[in-house]
Amino acid sequence: MIVSENPAVALRTQFEIDVRTGLCHDGQKTLPSKYLYDALGSTLFEAISLLPQYGLTRAEERILRGCSRDLVRHLPGRVMVSELGSGNGRKTRRILQALAANEPVSYYPIEISRAALDACEAELGDMERVSIVSVEQEYLEGLATVAGVRPAGSHLLVLFLGSTIGNFAAGDDARFLREVRSFMERGDSLLLGADLLKTPERMIDAYDDPLGVTAAFNLNLLARINKELESDFNLRAFRHEARFNHVSSSIEMHLVSKTRQTVTFPQSGFAVAFNAQETILTETCHKYTRATLAELAAKSGFWVEAQWVDDKWSFAETLLRAS
Ligand code: AVI
Repeated sequence: MIVSENPAVALRTQFEIDVRTGLCHDGQKTLPSKYLYDALGSTLFEAISLLPQYGLTRAEERILRGCSRDLVRHLPGRVMVSELGSGNGRKTRRILQALAANEPVSYYPIEISRAALDACEAELGDMERVSIVSVEQEYLEGLATVAGVRPAGSHLLVLFLGSTIGNFAAGDDARFLREVRSFMERGDSLLLGADLLKTPERMIDAYDDPLGVTAAFNLNLLARINKELESDFNLRAFRHEARFNHVSSSIEMHLVSKTRQTVTFPQSGFAVAFNAQETILTETCHKYTRATLAELAAKSGFWVEAQWVDDKWSFAETLLRAS
């Protein structure tokens, strides 16, 4: 609910617009999860991936170590690789290595963060027979760029790893993959990393770790808003909570207001009232099954060509073929 508003103060950035839109309405307050990843948030996420309770990243690394040669056997002809959100590129090395053993490979990492692209070039720049062309754009814009330069007769392999697909709102995962599909040709491949459903206890532990790293990652969003929008969130008056939503099969990350309070945004000309125990939903992390992944593929214009599942942490790497 908006408790005061000064229309004379113009909104300045997309960040400001998104924060205001997410907080100033009746019902569940929300903030877009992409804003969790400022410099400190990205570092905290790296720390999360090292936590014993959060097995997702290590599971995917194990799968890629084990399946890369097998994966290459499913890819016909000369392959061009593009990755949506490469991060530092560490996970991708195995795939590129396996491909480059047959033929020279061009790799197009797509990222909006220049720092991530620099890290990726530093990580993979030493690989023989791999040429890296960084694309500093949003995912779909970047994929359009890549599709525009692909040589005739090449096979496009798009990588979308790390279960980022699970962070889309319900239904948006299929919408997004359909858009990805629209930049691909029939027979092209998409390698999709997705976390699978586990017991609620195991999932809650992964998103509410005893060291409080995930809590810090979540609360840092309020710190970021204070820093960039000069608001006055009292971080000690909010706490992190991870919930499992059985209906949507998703972990939800919330920030819970411990008391009734008002947070002001004087530079932006608005304020937000919170009831005690009212929450801001900051991220949903959908958990798939092999069946729901196959449904997602079919809805988006793909079929499942192959799949590898880790035996210690249920995570699936699925090779989809554009139909
Ligand atoms: C980036 N993404 C796949 C992570 C996940 O598990 O959904 C983000 C995350 N949020 C809290 N911990 C990890």
